[in-house]
Amino acid sequence: MARAEAVAFAPGRVNLIGEHTDYNGGLALPFAISAGVRVRARASRQPGEHVVHAIDIAESDRFPVAPPAPAPAGGWRAFTRGMVAELTAAGVALPAAEIEITGTVPRGRGLSSSAALEVALAYALCGLAATPVPDPVDLARLCARVEHDWVGAQSGLLDQLASICGRPDTALLIDFCGPTLTPVPLSLDGYTLVAVDSGEDHRLAASGYNDRREECRRACQALGIASLRQATVAMAATLPEPLGRRVRHVVTENERVRAAVAALGDGDLPRLGELLDASHRSLRDDYEISTPAVERTVAALLAAGAAGARIVGGGFGGSVLALLAPGASLPPGALVLEAGPGARRLDPDGERAGAAGLRP
Ligand code: GLA
Repeated sequence: MARAEAVAFAPGRVNLIGEHTDYNGGLALPFAISAGVRVRARASRQPGEHVVHAIDIAESDRFPVAPPAPAPAGGWRAFTRGMVAELTAAGVALPAAEIEITGTVPRGRGLSSSAALEVALAYALCGLAATPVPDPVDLARLCARVEHDWVGAQSGLLDQLASICGRPDTALLIDFCGPTLTPVPLSLDGYTLVAVDSGEDHRLAASGYNDRREECRRACQALGIASLRQATVAMAATLPEPLGRRVRHVVTENERVRAAVAALGDGDLPRLGELLDASHRSLRDDYEISTPAVERTVAALLAAGAAGARIVGGGFGGSVLALLAPGASLPPGALVLEAGPGARRLDPDGERAGAAGLRP
């Protein structure tokens, strides 16, 4: 029996290190942040139709409940229509719903407002249908189908797994060969992580993101391997450019993730800063996803004394992640980042009702 109302919250994420490795069977170290998206779903007073309100931008959408699946739409509507279609295809019997969306995660800044929206929708709509939320990996894959088939971004599972499985004060070492998740205590010893906006919007579907994914596929084909996880720097050197540089980034980034986990374990924060810098150089020079605005932001942060700074997320604009030493002053407009809990249902008064477990 469907419920009358369900409310859910899903956080955005920051990837400490391990960028563009998820769709290459590699390693990443993200954490969920406190900013996120909240979705309230009520049984509709207008049977036969879903009505959606994006409160912050004062826009609405409506589409029929019954098959055929909702027609594709652009912008944020692609996420809600896609999520409703994919949940329905997965067997969730959704009643006609009135859905309200609000959010605190800045959009287009590389902090995964998209994944937060998808995951919050899934939690609220499954809640309304009184159906258990799919397991984290199944739900992340369902969200990826929304990204691929409805939004047009060939993204991996990084953002959704971080949003679903986040834990306070903890980063998640994700090995996308499984995927498997291992919690890593995020003890920063007085250092602070901040995100600073480069001032340039990034949109995965419209950026070079899909091109990078295609280049990695071509590199695998040329090397005769199933995934770049099996590649080495020596193998990269045999490829024509730019494929060689792309592979070198992925191979060395996986090594930097392992090194970052070790640095956190040793409490060696200066080393973590060096790894962030090295990751940025690799993303700029080998993966070529930086922009002049991002470079200016990184340079300003390093000049102000940051222990390390790098572009985060899909790239081509968005935010810069910086590690600040104890006592360093906060750059203007910086968003202080703390690892928080993952997606959960809320009771209608906003109280926590249940969170996703971390399933290794
Ligand atoms: C975006 C995608 C993720 C991942 C990152 C880069 O955030 O959605 O799947 O590929 O870029 O690490």
